[in-house]
Formats: sequence, C-alpha cells, structure tokens
Amino acid sequence: MKPRGRRRVTARRPRAARRPAGAAGGGNGVIETLRAEVARLRESESAAQTALARKEHMLEAVLHLGRVLSSIKDLKQLVASSMVPELVQLLNADRGSVFLMDDAKQELYSIIALGAELKEIRFPINTGLAGYVARTGEALKVADAHLDERFNPEFDHKTGYRTRSVLAVPMRDHAGRRIGVIQVINKKTGEVFTREDEELLVAIASEASIAILNTRLVQDLRELFDSVIVTMSAALDARDAMTAGHTHRVTEYSVGIARRMGYARENLERVRTAGMLHDIGKIGTPDAVLKKPGNLTRDEFEIIKQHAAYTRVIVRNLKLPPALQGLAEEAAGHHERMDGTGYPDGLKGAVIPEVARLMAVADVFDAITSKRHYREAMPIDQALDIIRKGSGPHFDPACVEAFMRYFEEELRDRFAARASGAGDPA
Ligand SMILES: [Fe+2]
Ligand SMILES: [Fe+2]
Repeated sequence: MKPRGRRRVTARRPRAARRPAGAAGGGNGVIETLRAEVARLRESESAAQTALARKEHMLEAVLHLGRVLSSIKDLKQLVASSMVPELVQLLNADRGSVFLMDDAKQELYSIIALGAELKEIRFPINTGLAGYVARTGEALKVADAHLDERFNPEFDHKTGYRTRSVLAVPMRDHAGRRIGVIQVINKKTGEVFTREDEELLVAIASEASIAILNTRLVQDLRELFDSVIVTMSAALDARDAMTAGHTHRVTEYSVGIARRMGYARENLERVRTAGMLHDIGKIGTPDAVLKKPGNLTRDEFEIIKQHAAYTRVIVRNLKLPPALQGLAEEAAGHHERMDGTGYPDGLKGAVIPEVARLMAVADVFDAITSKRHYREAMPIDQALDIIRKGSGPHFDPACVEAFMRYFEEELRDRFAARASGAGDPA
C-alpha cells in the first residue's frame, strides 16, 4: 500500500504544482498563445491587405499610364504629354521629367511646355543626377540633391528652385541599351522617395520605354516613306529640267487649297503625299515625248496621257498603310474633269476623289504659270481667268473657290514679285 500511497502522493504533487498555473494560465497559456497567434495573423493579414491594395493601385496606375503612352504618336508629344503630370501625381512628387538619350551627341534631352510652345532642353550625359543614371544604368534615390556631388545645381541657381529628394530610373530598350531617364523631384510630404516609389517608377519606365521604342519605329518608318517619295519625285524632276519643281509646287498649292477646305492635319499629309506622287507615272513617258519642243501630235498626247494610269500602278505597288488606302486613285485622278471628259477613267463629278479634284486645280494652275518646252509662262491674270472659267465643267467649284482664297492670301504677292522680275515662284 505504501508504495502505492507514495506513488499517489508523488503523482499528485506535479498536478498540485500545475494547478495554480493551470487555474490561472495552464489552459490560459494555450489561449494566450492562440490569441497572440490570431492577433499576429490578423496583423499580417491586414498588412497583406494593405500591401495588396497598394500593389493593386500601382498596377492600375501603371496600366493607365501604359494606355496613355500607347496613344501617343510622336516623341515630342510623348515627352510633353500627360505622362509627366500623371507620374508626378502618382509618386506624390513636385516635379517630373522624361529625358531621352541622344547617342550621337552623348546628350540627354527633354521637351518642356513653355506656355503654348514646346521647347527642347539639352545637357551632356556627364552632368547631373539624370546624367549619372543614363551613364551607369543605375537607379538613384537621393534625400538631398545639394549634398550629392553628382548633382548639378545650375538649374536651381538659375531658377531659385530648391531640389531636395530625387528619384531617377533608367529606361532601356529590348536589348537592355539605355534610351533615357525618368526622374521625379521633391516628395511632397517632405520625406524621401521609398523603395516602393522606386518599384513603381521602374514599372512606369518599362512602359514608357515600350512607348518610346514604338514611337521611334513609327517615326523611322514615316521618315523612310517620306524619303522614298521625295527620291521618286526627284528622279522624275531629273528627267526634265524644264518641269523640275512642278511636283513640289503642285504639292504646295494642293495643300494650300486643302487647308482652305478645312482639311485636318493628317489629311493634309495625305494631300502632300498624293501631290508628291501625282506625276510619278511620267517616269514611263519616253524622252522624245516628254521633252518635245513644240506642240504634241494626237498620238504623242495619247502617250503623255498614259502617265496618269502609270501613276496609279506605281502607287498601288507601294505597300501603303491602311490610312493611305485610295491614295493611288487620288494621285492618278488629277486629270479627271467634272464633266467626265478627263482621263484616265473619264470619271464624273463627285465620283472623282476630292483630293484629285483639288489637285486638278493646282496642277493646271502650275502648268500654265510655268514655262514649258512649247510655250512661255502665262500672265497671272490670264491664268486665274482659265481657272475661273474651268469651274464647273473642268474643276469642282468648291476647289476653285478655295484656290482663289488661297491665291489671294498666299500667292498673289509672290506672283507680283515674279512679274516685276524679283524672282520666280518657288
Ligand atoms: Fe499629270
Ligand atoms: Fe502634274
């Protein structure tokens, strides 16, 4: 029994020892632990929710900016676009800039809006914080720019502005080459930019880089297309010194008329391209006919007339963007007449594309006011009379009316100077 009793005592002792703790905290210890665990989880859940909300906000902001950027058509517009105010607001900064790299000159440049005008500012890549980022490709976060030896205080000294906190990140192309820098200045709360701000600006820089590269690609293609058009018309001019300059003048007059008819900027570009190409079919006209001094025979005139159809073939062979569909018909239609007696198709009235109708006025006006192999240039009043009389059967009256206004506003003085021997029309 003793041993058993002893065992009981022995066994009870720990229970008795645990009891006070158990009564006040044995089970409570577990509860406390659980409570602490729940509180910790709640805390981390709330932190996770806050982080999630912040990330969602960042994602939304970057996506929104991406949409803004993708609608931009040229670099000037991009740099001076709503992008800068948007990122300034997003990062709660006072100012922001987008700098592009000019590799050839080893400079960074930006476009700033000065009132209604856009002004380009440039500085060498080896100056300032943005220059440092462009040179090294490293992002930069500075609490007080004036305490950083890489900072160029010139701008602050000139303007009285006080740059304090700065965050600048590089923009790169698909091959990792640096193409520019995005920079925000002076966190509005007076604090410094955070790691999260940097993450956000890096994401924005990546979106901006894509937009810049796309814009550059489009710009390069446009320049290539323009240079091909200019080269083609130069090749035509080189065939015959007497008619050299005709293409450029017809283009200029056509754009002048189109402007009076209310054409928007992109449609003026279209008129310009049609003008530059309108006689390109003459490349196929034999020299004997093209440069013949004196009147053409009926057969020779038929050969000359073929140039309009050739123009259409050549322009149709150009791989034009969808926006320029129909350009071949517009360029080729400049010898059509409203009464249907023109060529190449004998189209009548409104069936003739409007660009062709307005170009018809420009084309005849330049032809009769320029010297040809077979005649002298016509005096201006006589030429204007021919245009006026052609309104209706030959020309669209709306195009003649626009031409007359254009002539009075921009050409009369030039032709008056030419008549007085001061110079030729350009
Ligand atoms: Fe022509
Ligand atoms: Fe022409």
